[in-house]
Amino acid sequence: MTRRKGDRKMNKQKATNVVWHMHKVDKTDRESLLNQKGLVLWFTGLSGSGKSTIANEVAYKLHSKGHIAYVLDGDNIRHGLNKNLGFSPEDRKENIRRISEVANLFADAGLIAITAFISPYRDDRDFCRELVGEGRFIEILCKASLETCEKRDTKGLYKKAREGIIKEFTGISAPYEEPENPELMINTDKETVDESTNKVLKKLEEIEHISE
Ligand code: ADX
Repeated sequence: MTRRKGDRKMNKQKATNVVWHMHKVDKTDRESLLNQKGLVLWFTGLSGSGKSTIANEVAYKLHSKGHIAYVLDGDNIRHGLNKNLGFSPEDRKENIRRISEVANLFADAGLIAITAFISPYRDDRDFCRELVGEGRFIEILCKASLETCEKRDTKGLYKKAREGIIKEFTGISAPYEEPENPELMINTDKETVDESTNKVLKKLEEIEHISE
């Protein structure tokens, strides 16, 4: 991994007098040991659009095929690494910046990082794309209409957002910027979980990331 793709305003380095070290074992060595290529599968979409469900299924299928994958999930990460962040635009940006860095480290370790975050801002997702590098960053839009997500309301959050109890809720009182050119789109309000999962796996076969 070479420093530093993706150095933007949001990612200015504060520390001075720090020197980047190269290590004896690199990504290629790790990948040949693991017999897989490091990758970031980036799911984006509204709350309740199915990101976590499909991410979970994809990880399960990849695992069954002998691949090492790891799911980084918005709700879980916000209990630990990102517990000091809320849902203001600045905090969401920082949320995605940290996750991008973590996902990039995972990919550098030779793992398949699967992220399931709303990640509402195009710029923030593009930051990750730039950091990880083209070909290793697969953006997957989990497409479901706001009406569908609201109807599902698995966590009861849309109701609270409509009542004004939750502020800055994506799709209701905070923006969601859909990807213009995602590598893949899954229509979770029309497809079954199996169909969406298989579409993702097929995409990975197409780009020869996994074998059939
Ligand atoms: S992101 O916008 O910063 O990418 P992230 O994916 O980490 O969001 O977290 C989203 C999850 O937090 C939602 O699925 C939902 O369960 C919960 N949540 C709580 N408050 C909000 C809010 N104001 N907007 C969106 N999601 C929220």
